[in-house]
Amino acid sequence: MKLMFATIIATSMFAAGIASAQSGPDLAKSKNCMNCHDLEKKKVGPSFKDIQAKYKDSKDAEATIAAKLKEGKGHPVKVAASDAELKTMIQFALTGK
Ligand code: HEC
Repeated sequence: MKLMFATIIATSMFAAGIASAQSGPDLAKSKNCMNCHDLEKKKVGPSFKDIQAKYKDSKDAEATIAAKLKEGKGHPVKVAASDAELKTMIQFALTGK
C-alpha cells in the first residue's frame, strides 16, 4: 500500500513537471514577448533574427541578455519570469527554437 502511494505521488509530480515546462515559443507568447518581437520582422523591438545576428559572436549572450531583461536596463520592459523561464525564452530568441 505504501509503495502504491509513493508511485501515485511520483507519477503525478512527473506529470505536473511536464505540464509546467513550456517550450520557448509558447513561453515567449504567454509572457507577451511576441507583442513586441517577431522571429523575422521588426516590430516594436528587433526581430529575433536581428538579435541572433547581433549576438552570433558573443560568448556570453545568454547572460548579457538575461541581465538586461531582468533589470529592465537596455530593454523597455522588466521581464517577470523565473531564471529557468528566461533561459528558455532567450534560447528561443537566439536560436529561433
Ligand atoms: C513593450 C515591448 C517589448 C516587450 C513586451 C518585450 N520586448 Fe524585448 N525589446 C523591445 C525593444 C524596443 C528592444 C530594443 C531595445 C534596445 O536595443 O534599445 C528589445 C530588445 C530585446 C532583446 C535584444 C537585447 C539586446 O541586447 O540587443 C531581446 C533578446 C529581447 N528584447 C527579448 C525579449 C523577451 C524574451 C521578451 C519577453 C519576456 C521581450 N523581449 C519583451 C521591446 C519589447
